[in-house]
Amino acid sequence: MAIQEFPRTDERSLEEEADLFKINAVDHIELWVGNAKQSVYYWKTWGFKPIAYSGLETANRRHASWVVEQNQIRFVLSTSYSPHDEMAAHHLLHGDGVKVIALEVEDIKAAYHETTTRGAKGVQAPTEAQDEGGIVRTAIIQGYGQTLFKFVERSDYSGAFLPGYKALPEDRTVIPTGLEAIDHIVGNVELGKMDYWVNWFHQTMGFRQIVHYDDKVIHTEYSALMSKVMGSGNGRIKFPINEPAKGRKKSQIEEFLDYYLGPGVQHIALLTDDIVATVRELKNRGLEFLRVPQAYYDALPERIGEIQENYADIAELGILADRDDEGYLLQIFSKPVQDRPTMFMEVIQRRGARGFGVGNFKALFESIEIEQARRGNL
Ligand code: FE2
Repeated sequence: MAIQEFPRTDERSLEEEADLFKINAVDHIELWVGNAKQSVYYWKTWGFKPIAYSGLETANRRHASWVVEQNQIRFVLSTSYSPHDEMAAHHLLHGDGVKVIALEVEDIKAAYHETTTRGAKGVQAPTEAQDEGGIVRTAIIQGYGQTLFKFVERSDYSGAFLPGYKALPEDRTVIPTGLEAIDHIVGNVELGKMDYWVNWFHQTMGFRQIVHYDDKVIHTEYSALMSKVMGSGNGRIKFPINEPAKGRKKSQIEEFLDYYLGPGVQHIALLTDDIVATVRELKNRGLEFLRVPQAYYDALPERIGEIQENYADIAELGILADRDDEGYLLQIFSKPVQDRPTMFMEVIQRRGARGFGVGNFKALFESIEIEQARRGNL
């Protein structure tokens, strides 16, 4: 199989970061969905408050967009009014999913110039939008599959979200669940394309490779995957990339690619300071998470050692734990958040550990395979 290489034009090693332009944070993630108005209710269950809206009432005749927020996490849910819009075509093909990963930058011109002159495909050159809240500048480049990376420069903007959006009255029915910030955003790409996208992040964004896991590490009896993690700013912004590896049966990455019809965002990991309280609340609200077999919990205290949480709570809620040189982490994975077995969510708490739970991959994938088998997709 011919592996397409992303052209490298500098001599930096993959472990070395280049300070091409400053990225402050993930500004927001936009999902293109079938029914944004109803999706808002789903994300309210996760503890997100609707804060801003754009649509017919704000003279946006193309699409309805609702912005929901919890602490530093912001999602935009969008649906087009017309079947002829690009947004409708995208939804027909992919179902609900992440269309835009928006990064807050300090200098939009530098962000667009550096990425596009280093090989990224430009989609929208820096553009200014203005309303009474001030000025916001945005630019867009093409990411994996049909996913876009959008740069947002909003240094002195005081509006609800972006020009064209109106603030919504406070929704007092929403009780937050302790989700604080985005920890990482994972992309699934086709077999043979992981290194292309590793090089893309390295080359265009200046990111470095933080860690990689090969199929000898991440495999079960039936399937395997490979994963590399790209990040910047001391690992504050992290983008793991997965590709399927050959196994005896269909891997979860292939299942994703089959149902999303191409590469895209597989999961978004959200940080909490108290995973026991967060997950207990989310489960009480009816949200569904994967569960590993009880044997995992029988072996856990010996594998992880002393933790601040109570092992009985961890086992009761189905939370996973992993330890590395720097500490430990606790994590749990949701079932897919739409009917297609594509995107899901992770809730993660870090107590020192900066990894991604590699010690859980096997147990986790075995429980994903149980779900795949139920769907007739293993
Ligand atoms: Fe993750």
